[in-house]
Amino acid sequence: MRTRPLKVALLGCGVVGSEVTRIITTQSADLAARIGAPIELAGIAVRRANRVRAGVPAELLTTDATALVKRGDIDVVVEVIGGIEPVRTLITTAFEHGASVVSANKALLAADGASLHAKAVEHGVDLYYEAAVAGAIPLIRPLRESLAGDKVNRVLGIVNGTTNFILDKMDSTGAGYSEALDEATALGYAEADPTADVEGFDAAAKAAILAGIAFHTRVTIDDVHREGLTEVTAADIASARKMGCTVKLLAICERARDGRSVTARVHPAMIPLSHPLASVRGAYNAVFVEAEAAGQLMFYGPGAGGAPTASAVLGDLVAACRNKLAATTGAGESAYTQLPVSPMGDVVTRYHISLDVADKPGVLAQVATVFAEHDVSIDTVRQQGRNQGSGDDAAVEQGGGRREGGEASLVVVTHRAPDAALSATVSSLRKLDTVRGVASIMRVEGE
Ligand SMILES: NC(=O)c1ccc[n+]([C@@H]2O[C@H](COP(=O)([O-])OP(=O)(O)OC[C@H]3O[C@@H](n4cnc5c(N)ncnc54)[C@H](OP(=O)(O)O)[C@@H]3O)[C@@H](O)[C@H]2O)c1
Repeated sequence: MRTRPLKVALLGCGVVGSEVTRIITTQSADLAARIGAPIELAGIAVRRANRVRAGVPAELLTTDATALVKRGDIDVVVEVIGGIEPVRTLITTAFEHGASVVSANKALLAADGASLHAKAVEHGVDLYYEAAVAGAIPLIRPLRESLAGDKVNRVLGIVNGTTNFILDKMDSTGAGYSEALDEATALGYAEADPTADVEGFDAAAKAAILAGIAFHTRVTIDDVHREGLTEVTAADIASARKMGCTVKLLAICERARDGRSVTARVHPAMIPLSHPLASVRGAYNAVFVEAEAAGQLMFYGPGAGGAPTASAVLGDLVAACRNKLAATTGAGESAYTQLPVSPMGDVVTRYHISLDVADKPGVLAQVATVFAEHDVSIDTVRQQGRNQGSGDDAAVEQGGGRREGGEASLVVVTHRAPDAALSATVSSLRKLDTVRGVASIMRVEGE
């Protein structure tokens, strides 16, 4: 084993960085044996110099991250600061000074992964980011390396623990969105400003990274259709239950059936209770991958937290250090297919639409005609709150009581149809006098 240590610079020592420091300092003998040389923490860049940091060697701390990455003797830079700048400049500078980079930064990778990969190649170093998607769960390396000989057609995942916790609470207790969010905040699962999670930005960044790797193409966060879960109601969850489904915020990356394009989207969706993703509870993450030869694969585990995320960071650090010792680099970006990313309107899936309608004869036929005009085929219709003897289709399943002002609620579930056709259907429905409102529209996935 080489005795001269490989030098590691750590940028950031917060939730993740402090755990990375702990593992490097407490597991040094094992890490050295696995790498083939000892690793030495050469410096730790932070923002606030005077903050008390248990277990972190004070002599290594610096507030000058730029000077640290410019030292010239650093083998690997571990970036766990987050955000776009100054991190992009720090990573580029690290490459220019010959260091490989391990990052947990989904925001930066989803915005600008291609140019960072190009810079790494230009300087003959590695860029690894297993921790950027789904925390501890090995996902980037399996997609990039283990499935390199297969053809991935679909990636369907729960990649945000905060939103899964909220939806799981709503499902198990009947709570509304605000109540479930309050509980997530109190328990530390949601940040004081939960926007990135509940509006789907965090999941969209992860979807962009996954789609790019799965389909060997370039996808940025701007290509990802995004809807958060703030509009999901307790009634939606109850309606999903009636269909034998639950509601999850899903990141869905798909190759088109003709293979000529891909789509990437994040939105709440109903999935059948029999689907493996339906059983992912609390703040856990899981990603379901469908590949041509491998079939269906499921990756499951803690998607966040200091120690779980540090596990993924350390895996990358060991790989980057081994490559440094062997004077080589690992698998980099693979974007040779250059497939276009289609707009949301081209996505084909099923829909659950809840309408408030006038409770009088003929309404169901009117509504059905609008669906037919837009070539959206109806699978089932459920009517709630009808007046007795109003004479509509006998085929509808009835439930609930009479609604105020002679209103009823119609729940329509469609067969697979393009999103654009569904949007056009809903616009036409809104123009009908007998449709008082469109209470909710939710996609149905995983069938
Ligand atoms: N937390 C998770 O569960 C998790 C999971 C997966 C991925 N990630 C990713 O991991 C990264 C870090 O997340 P985190 O939760 O550990 O964040 P965090 O707790 O906020 O820590 C950020 C660290 O960066 C330091 N920092 C901020 N600006 C800096 C600057 N300009 N120069 C030098 N240091 C600076 C901060 O210094 P001070 O300590 O002085 O404030 C702090 O130590 C992010 O990209 C995040 O998306 C986190």
